[in-house]
Amino acid sequence: MSDRVAGDGASSKGAPPVLEMRGVTKRFGAVTANDGVSLTLGRGEILGLLGENGAGKSTLMKILYGLYTPDEGEVFLDGERVEIRDPKDAVSRGIGMVHQHFTLIPPLTVAENIVLGAEPRKGLSLNLEEAVRATEELSERYGLKVDPRSRVADLSVGVRQRVEILKALYRNVRILVLDEPTAVLTPQETEDLFAVLKELVADGLSIILITHKLGELLGVSDEITIIRDGRVVDTVDAADTDEGELARLMVGREVLLRVEKEEVETPGGVRLAAENLTVRSSTGALAVKGVDLEVRGGEILGMAGVDGNGQTELAEALAGTRPVEGGRVFLDGADATNLGADARQERGLAYVPEDRGTKGLVQDFALYENNALKTYDEPPFSKWGWIFPKVMRRRAAEALRAYDVRPADPEARAGSLSGGNQQKAVLARELSGDPGVIIAAQPTRGVDVGAIEFIHGQLLKQRAEGKAILLISLELEEVRSLSDRILVMYAGRIVGEVGPEATDEQLGLLMAGRGVEEKSA
Ligand SMILES: Nc1ncnc2c1ncn2[C@@H]1O[C@H](COP(=O)(O)OP(=O)(O)OP(=O)(O)O)[C@@H](O)[C@H]1O
Ligand SMILES: [Mg+2]
Repeated sequence: MSDRVAGDGASSKGAPPVLEMRGVTKRFGAVTANDGVSLTLGRGEILGLLGENGAGKSTLMKILYGLYTPDEGEVFLDGERVEIRDPKDAVSRGIGMVHQHFTLIPPLTVAENIVLGAEPRKGLSLNLEEAVRATEELSERYGLKVDPRSRVADLSVGVRQRVEILKALYRNVRILVLDEPTAVLTPQETEDLFAVLKELVADGLSIILITHKLGELLGVSDEITIIRDGRVVDTVDAADTDEGELARLMVGREVLLRVEKEEVETPGGVRLAAENLTVRSSTGALAVKGVDLEVRGGEILGMAGVDGNGQTELAEALAGTRPVEGGRVFLDGADATNLGADARQERGLAYVPEDRGTKGLVQDFALYENNALKTYDEPPFSKWGWIFPKVMRRRAAEALRAYDVRPADPEARAGSLSGGNQQKAVLARELSGDPGVIIAAQPTRGVDVGAIEFIHGQLLKQRAEGKAILLISLELEEVRSLSDRILVMYAGRIVGEVGPEATDEQLGLLMAGRGVEEKSA
């Protein structure tokens, strides 16, 4: 975007930039998360922030939002030096932030969440009608559709993301920070969100956007600042760069942006199967309605679909973390329907859950404890009732190093890792145990392009070794480039099977529940 809506900060004459951060340094013990970082944001500008997992993006934004105090450096708003004491202070200065992980309170309604901490009051109590009205008005004004009265717990992630953004906008922001807002969105939801962002900047708002999706950054930002190991490497104009250059700048080497998949001769026997599987969701509704599937050794079976069509429940039922209502699950030919998650794992099943934050890792445990979370009571970690922490630490260190988790420190608390590194830690645990069957749900959610290349390579390596892999992903490109066959799930059913050469249109139709009979078209 070359013609900016309103002045472009640093270079525009007269008015100082809306935001300038100068020489910001932040240390956590031995880790320097930000090392003399400077950046400039102009009025009406979208600045992209790009960097590997752990590069320091969220930390920098948390400093801006008053969650962390920098060790060194200065922050200027409209040319005036400020000390941002806490998030409340940040909000009062017109800074809003949508965090990498959801911060909404599930039992409350949309309207209650949006006004939380800034409630309209009637006497001493919350003026609910006013909250609903304000929510409706905001929702209308920005084209972010939500129902003010529904409970957040009942919403899909895409709608939750909209609520997070409305919550920030309700507070009259001038600077909006979005930390990976699209990681959980479908392509259509992402497109809608970006249309809203463009309207916001046309209104004079300034936005900082963090995403690992290079195409998105190029499409929506004016400038892109690239951070590596806590330092700014470069700031480039989105109009004169491309994905290859961005990847190289952030990783410091060439990155393979496309997967190279080898032919595997004929796939082996069926290792994972579901027969007429029916599963209920947490709200009690039927989420999976009679699904049959078979995954063979040496095969990656892709599962495409719009989020919320039963994929999550299906994965959980196959992994044994959710009860089955009807039908059967087979692992290597044996009926596993009545086995718990642990027993299935002992039989060689690995499961990468989509929600690493609450289901994948215990945030307060050290990485070595997380690494042995499911196997601490088995050899080599324990024998005759004795637990061997040394072995746990050594194995964890190996797995963390192999998966390039940063820091690869077995003693680090899982919760102190950056978002993408937490995801890599889950993969390290699940894939390093030499499983026979792998269920991977959104395996690359929130990880950087270099790590995606690595994870894709690992999945293909497992495939070449004869493992059976079920890959559930919202990223069509990922499903297509890795899978041997693709099933499409819609409203709890498998509505079609296509090959990896299927076009966006073919997949899109199936994902929308249309063209059910067009399997071989
Ligand atoms: N509260 C904390 N305590 C200790 N270390 C931390 C803490 N927060 C962040 N770090 C460390 O600071 C570094 C930067 O982390 P940050 O979360 O800013 O990365 P990021 O660029 O947002 O990565 P991602 O793309 O994975 O979200 C990492 O090495 C991380 O482990
Ligand atoms: Mg982050």
